[in-house]
Order: sequence, then C-alpha cells, then structure tokens
Amino acid sequence: MRMYDIILKKRQGQALTTEEINYFVDGFTKGEIPDYQTSALLMTIFFSKMNHRETVDLTKAMINSGDVMNLSGIKGVVVDKHSTGGVGDTTTLILGPMVAACGIPMAKMSGRGLGHTGGTIDKLESINGFNTQMTKEEFIYKVNKIGIAIAGQTSNLAPADKQLYALRDVTATVDNLSLIASSVMSKKLASGAQGILLDVKTGHGAFMKTQEDSFELAQMMIDIGNAMGRNVSAIITDMNQPLGRAVGNSLEVKEAIDTLRGNGPEDLYKLCLALGTELLILAGYTNSPDKALQILQKKVEGGEAFEKFRDLVKSQGGSIEQVDNTELLPQGKYKVNLLSDKNQYIKSIKAEEVGLAALTLGAGRQTKESKIDLGVGIYLHKKVGDFTNKGELIATIYANDEEKSKLALNQLSSCYEYSLKPVEEKKLIYGIINKDGTQLIK
Ligand code: URA
Ligand code: CA
Repeated sequence: MRMYDIILKKRQGQALTTEEINYFVDGFTKGEIPDYQTSALLMTIFFSKMNHRETVDLTKAMINSGDVMNLSGIKGVVVDKHSTGGVGDTTTLILGPMVAACGIPMAKMSGRGLGHTGGTIDKLESINGFNTQMTKEEFIYKVNKIGIAIAGQTSNLAPADKQLYALRDVTATVDNLSLIASSVMSKKLASGAQGILLDVKTGHGAFMKTQEDSFELAQMMIDIGNAMGRNVSAIITDMNQPLGRAVGNSLEVKEAIDTLRGNGPEDLYKLCLALGTELLILAGYTNSPDKALQILQKKVEGGEAFEKFRDLVKSQGGSIEQVDNTELLPQGKYKVNLLSDKNQYIKSIKAEEVGLAALTLGAGRQTKESKIDLGVGIYLHKKVGDFTNKGELIATIYANDEEKSKLALNQLSSCYEYSLKPVEEKKLIYGIINKDGTQLIK
C-alpha cells in the first residue's frame, strides 16, 4: 500500500477501505508517514468528505492507536459527559457530584484548556493540593469508594488523535464533521464509559456555528458510538454567550461550588439539570425525565450534591478549607470594572472573544508550555437581555498584571453589542437526541 495512492483515491472522491484507513493512521502515528502526506490527505478529506463507514473506521483506528481503559472493575453503569468546548463551561464540576450523589458512578477523564476554551483539570488545580494524576487502579478504587473521580487524560489515550489534531490545527482542517466526530469519539470510546452524553455547543463561541451543523455533528457522533455498542445521547446547547457568569479557573470553581449550594447562575444550573436528566436516563436509573429532574433538584437542595463535591476534593487530596470558604481560593489582586456608558440592553456577548480576553490575563495557555494563572478571569454581572443603567457594572476583570488587565479590558469591551430596545433572551437548549429520537426544544 502507498500513501500516494490513498491521497489520490480520496481526491477522486472515492471511499477509502478499512485497510487503507488503518494503514494511514498506523503509519502516521508511528512517524512512518510524513506530515506533508498526512496534511494532504486531511485537506482532501475536508473537501471530499467521508461516509459513515469510513468515519467509524477512522474512529476505531484512532482508538486502537493507544490504550483502551477497561472500567469493568467499577460497579454499576459508568457514564461520561463530554462538551465540544465552551467558554466558562463549569458543568463537569457540578454535574459530576450531582449524578454521583444519585449513586451513578462518574469516572471522568478530563483535559486541560487550550486556546480560548478552559479545561476541567486546570480548574480543579486551583484548589490547593488537588491531584488529578493517578494510576488506573487508584482511579477505579476512588470511583468505587465515593462514586466519583476526575483524572487527567493519560497521554496514551488515542495518541493518533493528539497528533492528527495538532496537524489539523495548523492546516485549516479542524472543522470537518467526520474529523471532529472521530476525534471526539475516539477519546470518549477509549476512556471506557458505557453511557456517553455529548454536550454539543452551537453558536459564535463553538466549533459549529450553525444549528444545522451542530445537529448533524451530534447525530454523527451518536451513530459512531452506537456502532461500537455504547449508549450515546446528545444535547445541543447555546454558546452565543459564556455559560454562567464566571470565566477563569478559580472563579469557575467558586461558581461551581455556589451552584452546588443552590446559589449559582440560572443558566448554568438549568443546563446541569438538563444534562443530569439525560445521564440518569442513559444509566438506566429512570425512564422519566420529570422524575430524573426532581431527584437531581433534591440532591442539590438537600446538600447531598455539595457533600459529594467535598468527598471528591478530599479523595483527591484537595483543600476542604477552600471549598468551604471560597474566599481562600486564588484571586487576582487587581480588579478592573467595565461600566455601561449609557442606559441600554445587552444584545450579545461574544463568547470566543471573552475567552480570548481571559487568555490575555493568563487564565489559559497561549502555547502548550505556558503556565496558567489560576486566580485571574472575568465575572459577567450582566448577560444577554439584561438592562444596564449608565455607570452600572457590566463585568469585572480579575488580574495579576496591570498591563494585561488594560489589554483585556479593551478586548472585553469589544465583546459586547448593545441595544436601546429590549432584546429577546437567548435559548439555552436547542434540542436533545436520545434513544427516543430527536426532540427540538421550542
Ligand atoms: N474537540 C476535539 O476533541 N476534537 C476536535 O476535532 C474538535 C473539538
Ligand atoms: Ca461560567
């Protein structure tokens, strides 16, 4: 087999065989196929597209490029949730304990942030001592003991995806449906959960900007998961403004704790309840969405979900003092306010740009090697649809560097669009796809 022939075949619009896909993924991962040929193939796939069978084969080949987690040592139906990347998306920290409090094992492998989106592992590290590196045995032991563990993804989980993603990122071949679907699903399927819930973001701050593409991506990932014997559901949710009010690591941890204590932002809590409902159904806990919702609300209102979060922090060596008193979490020493210059409504908040402003402050990585500043970030006092009087506080920047705070303030102020007339509130959830089919939310 020759890589040249594979590139040519795809260029001519033909479907690649399973053997050809395996040959390419295997050869590329081993370093035997050079980046220039892989880049050419990626661009050809971008234009010629892949069919369902090719996409499933590509996913399987990427899974087989590394370790596959065996979670059979965990009692119960293990479920997992994955978001396709958002700004201020703190759901894992809330949803995990909520669902674990219902007795459903949450064995969560999470990533770090890259670019304008944050990562759960970075966020958790703003709690002193919180450790996300553990052996597979420790991971399984912790899940069995308290019902939840959150670990950093091992470097050998779908290594083909890691290498391919790095190449896609610099060759303008990220936003192809088959390439995204196989990338996300290879990691999820390799991490071993039986039930997988996908939170597919749509809108300005998401990879998929249109609802049509987002639904198609969701369906494609579900089909891949089903082809590999897993139960997969998806929720298509809004990323036209950041989720909740906090963007930045320790600020988001505080926001998660507030939400678990019943004092969180409405949109964040609502999304966690919706995701939790689907997870309870996926795990076979109940078939009734209403019942699932009620149970989850009770777990929060009764304090059990927060208690589970405390158990998680204790189990992974983190500081309980900081959980109980979030003022002790790291916080930027400078506060800079964005004020409203007239009486007006907030029409839009560009999520991606807010993420980039947080990145300027040091909340995320400019490169893989950057060290992040856990205490910096942005707090949004106003969200889309809100009215602000002249001089009223719109957002606060938390910074540790005055220069950066000025740059970020400039960036942040250009994230907003205003209107003198009332604006329609944005929808949070556009649709749910599960075993009962596709349900559009009106
Ligand atoms: N997230 C991934 O893991 N892969 C993609 O291709 C896009 C988003
Ligand atoms: Ca948030």
